[in-house]
Amino acid sequence: MYDLTEFNIRDLSECGFMVRQLGKEAQSMEAASKIIIKYLYDNLVNCQTQERSCVLIRLFKTHSYGNLTPELQKYVQHTLNKTEINHDLKCLTLLATAGEKPEWNYRDKSLGHQAIPLVDEEAISKAPMISQLIKQLGVEPGVLIQPDPDLFVYLEEEIYQIFYVPNALCSPYIPAKKSFVAPFNIKSVLGCGGLLPSGDTFVVLMFLKAELPKATLDLLRHLTLNIKMAILPFDNNSIFINSGQYNIINQVKDVSEQNISIDNLQSEIDTLNQLLNVSEKSTITQSQSLERVIQELQTTIVKLQESNTKLLHTEKMSSLGRMIAGIAHEITNPINFIKGNIVYARKYTENLIELLTEYQKHYPIPVHEVQEKIDEIDVKFLVEDLGKIYKSMGNGTEQINEIIQAMRNFSRMDKGEFQKINVQEAIDNTLIILGSRLKANPKSPAIKVIKEYQDLPLIDFYPNQLNQVLINIMSNAIDAIDEYSQQRTTKDIENEDSRIIIHTEIIKQANTEIITSDWVQIRISDNGPGISPELQKKLFDPFFTTKPTGKGTGLGLSISYQIIVEKHHGNIICCSEVGEGTTFMIQIPVQQKLG
Ligand SMILES: Nc1ncnc2c1ncn2[C@@H]1O[C@H](COP(=O)(O)OP(=O)(O)OP(=O)(O)O)[C@@H](O)[C@H]1O
Ligand SMILES: [Mg+2]
Repeated sequence: MYDLTEFNIRDLSECGFMVRQLGKEAQSMEAASKIIIKYLYDNLVNCQTQERSCVLIRLFKTHSYGNLTPELQKYVQHTLNKTEINHDLKCLTLLATAGEKPEWNYRDKSLGHQAIPLVDEEAISKAPMISQLIKQLGVEPGVLIQPDPDLFVYLEEEIYQIFYVPNALCSPYIPAKKSFVAPFNIKSVLGCGGLLPSGDTFVVLMFLKAELPKATLDLLRHLTLNIKMAILPFDNNSIFINSGQYNIINQVKDVSEQNISIDNLQSEIDTLNQLLNVSEKSTITQSQSLERVIQELQTTIVKLQESNTKLLHTEKMSSLGRMIAGIAHEITNPINFIKGNIVYARKYTENLIELLTEYQKHYPIPVHEVQEKIDEIDVKFLVEDLGKIYKSMGNGTEQINEIIQAMRNFSRMDKGEFQKINVQEAIDNTLIILGSRLKANPKSPAIKVIKEYQDLPLIDFYPNQLNQVLINIMSNAIDAIDEYSQQRTTKDIENEDSRIIIHTEIIKQANTEIITSDWVQIRISDNGPGISPELQKKLFDPFFTTKPTGKGTGLGLSISYQIIVEKHHGNIICCSEVGEGTTFMIQIPVQQKLG
C-alpha cells in the first residue's frame, strides 16, 4: 500500500519493482496494462482511512486505426460517422481501466473513450484535457498525428513527463465537472506517460481524491519509466489480449521482426538508463535531505540536552530553594517564641535574684540547710553567670534570625527581571547555607574561609542566579578539599589549613559591548588538589564529572557558565595547577544592557 501524499523513495522503489514484475507475467500490452492499472488502483490508498486514492485510473496508448481490433474500428467509425478511414489515423486507445463504478473496470464498456480518433489538431484541441496532456508530455499534437521516426528516437529519450492538475474542480482542462469531478470528490488529476519506440505515446491518467505534494510528483516521473519498461516488450507486436491477428496488421512492411526486437531492446536499454539517471538524481536529492534532517536532528538533540540540563538544574535549585524556604519558615515561629520568652525569663530571674538579695539582707545568717544549699549551688557564681547566659542566648537567637534571613534571601525566586544585587551579601548568604559543610567532620578538618572584600557597587543580576553560581563553585571547592584531605597526612594538614579565599574587587574591562566598563570580579580559591590541563578543557561541558554516580551530575559548572557568560555577558575562568589548588574567577559587568 502506498500513500501518494507521503510517497517516498522506498515506496517508489517497491512500487516500480512490482510494476515491472507484473508486466513480465503478461502476454500482451493490454494484459500488462490491466494488471498494472489494477495493482495501482488497489495499492494507492490513503493510509489513514484505507480508502483508495484513485476514483478512476486508465492507461491509454496511441494506436493506428489499422491496428485496432474490429470492435474498436467500428467504435471509431461510429465516432467519426464514416466507414472509410485512413489506416494510419492515430487513435488514443483505452488499454486498461479500473475505478469505483463497475462499468469503469471494462474498457469495452467505456462510452466515450474506447478509442479517441486524433483526426487533426483542431479535433484534439476540442478535448482540452487530452490536448493539454499531450502538450505537457512535450509532444506537439501535429507530431502525434504524423509521427516522424527520427524525431521520436530523440523524443523517446527525453519524454517521461507528468501532467498534474491540482484543483480539478476549477481547472479549464478537466471536463465533466458536474457529472464526474464534483460527485466523486475528485481533488486532482495526474497524468504520466511517454513515448514508445514505435512512435506511439502511452498515458496513465489518475483521477485522485487528494492533492499531491511536489515531492511525490517528482518521484512519479520514475513510475512512468517503470510502466514503460513493463509495456515496452509488446510495442510493435502483441497489443490486444487474444487478438494476435489484429496486432502488427499495419506495420511498416520493410521493418523486419529482427529490427523490431533490436529497436525494442535498444529502447529497453535507454529506458533503463533513464531510470538509472533519475534514480541517481533522486537518491542524491533524498540523501541531501536526509543529511539535512540528520543535521537538524543533531541540533535538536543538542538543544534538547541543553534545555534538559537547564531543567534538571533549575529543578535542583528550585527544590533546594523550596526546602530552604520551608525550613526557614518552620524555624521562624519557635525561634520568635524563644526570643520573646527570653525577655520574660530574664526579668523573672532578675526578680528572683532581687528577692534572694532581700532575703540575704534581712536574714544574713541562714539556717544550716539553706547555707549548705547556697554553698552547693555556688549562688554568687550562678548570679554572675546567669547574666552571661541570657546575653549569649540573646546573641544566639539573633544569629538564628540572621540565618533565617539569609535562607529567605537565598531562596527568593527568580522574578524574571534584572535586579540590583549585593555581591557580598550573596556570598555571605551562600556561606551560611554551606556552613555545616565547612565545619570539621570525622573525615576532614574544618575549612577556613578567608574573605577579602573590596567595596562593590550593586550589580544587575537575575535574582537567585548568583546564589546558584556561588553555591556550585563553593561546593566544588569544598568537595575538592574534602577529597584531598583524605590523601593528606595529619602533618600536611597541620602545616597548611584547608582554606577557601574569597576575594572581590572592581575591575575595568576594555572593548566591551556593555554600556559601562565597570565590572566586578569574584575570585574563589581553594587549596584542594588542583585540576589537570586535560580536565580543565572539559570543566564546563554538560555532564562532565569526576565524582561518583549519585554525588555529581556534572551540571554545576555548565549551568554556572550559562548564567554568567550567556545570561549576564560576563566571564568565568578557571586557573588551576595540580597540587597547587584551584581558582575560579567570575567577572560580571556592573550594568546589563537593557532590551
Ligand atoms: N575546585 C575544584 N577543584 C578540583 N576539581 C574541580 C573543582 N571544581 C570542579 N572540579 C571538577 O570539575 C568537575 C565538574 O564540576 P561540576 O560542578 O560541573 O559537576 P560536579 O560537581 O561533578 O556535579 P554537580 O552537577 O553536582 O555540580 C567536577 O566533577 C570536578 O572533577
Ligand atoms: Mg559541582
